[in-house]
Amino acid sequence: MEGLGLILLGPPGSGKGTQAELFENRLGLKKISTGDILRDAIRKGTELGKLAKEHINRGELVPDDVVVALVEEALKKTSDGYILDGFPRTIEQAKRLDRILEKLGKKLDAAVLFAVPDEEIIKRLSARRVCPKCHAVYNMVTKPPKRDEICDICGTPLVMRDDDKPETVRRRIEVYRRDTEPLVDFYRNRGLLVEVKAVGDPEEVFNFIIGALKK
Ligand code: AP5
Repeated sequence: MEGLGLILLGPPGSGKGTQAELFENRLGLKKISTGDILRDAIRKGTELGKLAKEHINRGELVPDDVVVALVEEALKKTSDGYILDGFPRTIEQAKRLDRILEKLGKKLDAAVLFAVPDEEIIKRLSARRVCPKCHAVYNMVTKPPKRDEICDICGTPLVMRDDDKPETVRRRIEVYRRDTEPLVDFYRNRGLLVEVKAVGDPEEVFNFIIGALKK
């Protein structure tokens, strides 16, 4: 499984970030998360961060040119396998990814689609808490910290992501259906789509994905 090139595709809160981390830790694939890169820029208050914040807090996508450039930079630095979490999110991004991969001599092995019902998404995101310091992700229902709303790793009080407010989550789901869902057919038509039921314990979902990739 080492050296694989993977895309994780799925609605907000479907568990892409959780699985990308498992893949990075266990299989050594380099995780490239556009959401994490953008949130890091927001925290640092850079020009990129200011631009990203305007879009993210409304539940809208950041412009294609901006995220494509970030991914190209990140892919250039990977020497082995990679896992793209939250990219591409539009057909335009997918077409430009093809060109970047070709230029860098890298391959794409599969686009893994996470299937999760909308009610589960809302439940997961309203219970998600993140550490503003070390960025660990928790869930007050399924993965609570040991002490009430305090990070197990660095002891910092946990916070809710600004874009996890219910009205913003609803908008993110609409944007996903409109802009990102067309990628399902895009990758299916190329024989690259691997669909997994992303409910159940994250360990179980990880094993479903591995099993589906082996087929
Ligand atoms: P991004 O951070 O990528 O957000 P997202 O795709 O909406 O996904 P989330 O991070 O909300 O969820 P996830 O699927 O990673 O789930 P997680 O593992 O955290 O992007 C944020 C914003 O940045 C976008 O809205 C956009 O504005 C911008 N952006 C990013 N990429 C862009 C791009 N390519 N183009 C344009 N704009 C872009 O899990 C969620 C919760 O559920 C956690 O609490 C977790 O503990 C829990 N959980 C995980 N797995 C399970 C499980 N199996 N069972 C129960 N609970 C689980």
